[in-house]
Amino acid sequence: MSSSEQTFIAIKPDGVARGLISPIIGRFEQKGFKLAAIKVFQVKISSPGQEHLEKHYADLSDKPFFRGLVTYMNSGPICAMVWEGRDAVKTGRTLLGATNPAASAPGTIRGDFAIDVGRNVCHGSDTVENAKKEIDLWFKKDELNSWKLPQADWIYE
Ligand code: RTP
Repeated sequence: MSSSEQTFIAIKPDGVARGLISPIIGRFEQKGFKLAAIKVFQVKISSPGQEHLEKHYADLSDKPFFRGLVTYMNSGPICAMVWEGRDAVKTGRTLLGATNPAASAPGTIRGDFAIDVGRNVCHGSDTVENAKKEIDLWFKKDELNSWKLPQADWIYE
């Protein structure tokens, strides 16, 4: 079991605007994951921009909500992060809750902080393969830190 699995987590513009960066980071820190990278994109005025977001959501390009989704994602700063730890992809999705906040359990991020599927405050990679692709899309290699989580021995047996 690898404790170095990485997942891409983004706090979407609504989450940033509502002041939810710290509670969302808190959920991942408190769980025991390591923050391997973080940056805030001023989407409208610098990269990644619309093209980058269309690439990120390429598999949804034929969905009726695609244009609205890209416009929403391009409407303000996004906090992009890489979190690392055992089963980070699957557990990350569990921490976020179901895509539609109406179906997200209380105690999850979307269950506690969101109401509408079109304003669901965060994104998380759905597979290890997609996590790798998304991390490559959003971060340069040297933006990922390699420090060992100091309390790792208290988190992993
Ligand atoms: P995400 O990529 O944001 O983590 O979400 P997800 O995998 O749980 O869900 P996905 O199906 O990939 O959808 C991506 C995002 O599109 C928006 N959405 N809107 N209006 C709608 O019916 C609808 N369905 C999805 C959500 O913001 C969702 O997170």
